[in-house]
Amino acid sequence: MNGNDSALVEMRGITKNFGGLRAVDSVDFSIKRGEVVGLLGENGAGKSTLIKILTGIYRPDYGEIRFEGNLVEIRNRADSQRLGIEPLYQDLSLVGTLDAASNVFLGKELTKKRFGFFPVLNLKTMQKEAERILWEQLGIDFKNRWEPVFNLSGGERQAVALARAIYSEAKMVILDEPMASLGVEEVKRTLDIIRKLRENNIAVIVISHNLEHVYSVADRVVVLHRGKKVADTPTKELTPDEVVKLMVFGDRTKEVKAYE
Ligand SMILES: Nc1ncnc2c1ncn2[C@@H]1O[C@H](COP(=O)(O)OP(=O)(O)OP(=O)(O)O)[C@@H](O)[C@H]1O
Ligand SMILES: [Mg+2]
Repeated sequence: MNGNDSALVEMRGITKNFGGLRAVDSVDFSIKRGEVVGLLGENGAGKSTLIKILTGIYRPDYGEIRFEGNLVEIRNRADSQRLGIEPLYQDLSLVGTLDAASNVFLGKELTKKRFGFFPVLNLKTMQKEAERILWEQLGIDFKNRWEPVFNLSGGERQAVALARAIYSEAKMVILDEPMASLGVEEVKRTLDIIRKLRENNIAVIVISHNLEHVYSVADRVVVLHRGKKVADTPTKELTPDEVVKLMVFGDRTKEVKAYE
């Protein structure tokens, strides 16, 4: 049995080279269900590479991954999807011309057999189920829910993508810079959704350059510096100032002098 105390995912000694460049260097990373981890580091620190190893976009050169205690090979996106790992990319891969409900069920549409013969899309059930997830689980109520998602705001589209992740029974959601292009209200909503995911016992990794956002949701922060993990600490045990030093110098005790 996988209780809440054991890791959902445990990566050990993960190393990834691109030619002569070591993008990720012997990193250990683990996360439990219902935990929100902020993954931090400067540009090029290795954050996206590490999560792409988790989603099967890249294979590590060294290291092992355990999922619910079992050694796994994540060879491609299909493998990570089967495990319940759902990445949320910037473009969100939604179909702009379809409404929210249709997007939530994209690729796994509910069908009913009409005349006991031909499978027909069960639009009513899909819409009801989409509303249940959007409303009850994510607390989202947008007026324009019958609009093609093309007409929704960035934050609303993000909510639809997250509802889809929940519907597909994701155990882990990975957000790489989810708030980069959002307005103040939309950022607030995204942070609320992240909290809802945690309430739903989903593990969440959030990559963001905005420390304020990370501090407002993350239970723990992991800092990468030039591919190496330099911190893995409950958020409340590190000050934002220390995090910045870890990101820039890989060392939180570094004294920063003027003109250095
Ligand atoms: N496919 C690739 N081929 C070659 N080098 C790559 C590739 N992907 C990433 N890199 C390099 O690996 C290093 C880590 O990149 P990565 O994208 O993981 O950084 P990051 O922490 O996500 O940065 P950012 O905050 O800018 O998104 C960088 O030096 C980058 O140029
Ligand atoms: Mg990145």
